[in-house]
Amino acid sequence: MALVPRVFLTADQIQKRVREMGDQISTDFPQGPIYLIAILKGAFMFLADLSRAIRTPSRVEFIGISSYGRGKTTSGQVKVTKDLDVSIEGHHVLIVEDIVDSGVTLTYLMNVLKQRRPKSLNIATLLDKPERRLRPVDVAYVGFKIPDEFVVGYGLDFAEDYRNLGDICVLHEEGQK
Ligand code: PRP
Repeated sequence: MALVPRVFLTADQIQKRVREMGDQISTDFPQGPIYLIAILKGAFMFLADLSRAIRTPSRVEFIGISSYGRGKTTSGQVKVTKDLDVSIEGHHVLIVEDIVDSGVTLTYLMNVLKQRRPKSLNIATLLDKPERRLRPVDVAYVGFKIPDEFVVGYGLDFAEDYRNLGDICVLHEEGQK
């Protein structure tokens, strides 16, 4: 059965919310630099827009994390596959994530980065699925709280497809109402 993406959040709705998040972050952190650390791959598009919406001087970094033994849900076996190229000691750090689901990825990453003694360590996520949480995560900036639907687009994939969509869509089976 073919899967069809149906728009859930339009590109305009996303852009408006990302600008609001950028304003809030700029107000909360008037002094830079802020190290914006995006988790590969899903956060690349959110990072591109959020970084332009933040007025405080910022630097962009990427980190790769993988989870093993996981179907659609994270199992808890997490490791860093691509580490940062810089030290974050004494700097403001904002982790930029596309979606928080079980919370396993961010719980792990917060522990790893805390040990590197940043001046501050916070999380900005575009999407949050609170119903799916297995580990509590303190997320400072949330774009949209969403129900437990499988979403793609704006960086989020299904088997590596759909990341390049400007809208966020729910995947439905063809013919399904
Ligand atoms: C997704 C998403 C988060 C993580 C959230 O990444 O981008 O990093 O899962 O899930 P959790 O809260 O249950 O840990 P994924 O592993 O699918 O990799 P990708 O970003 O490369 O698509």
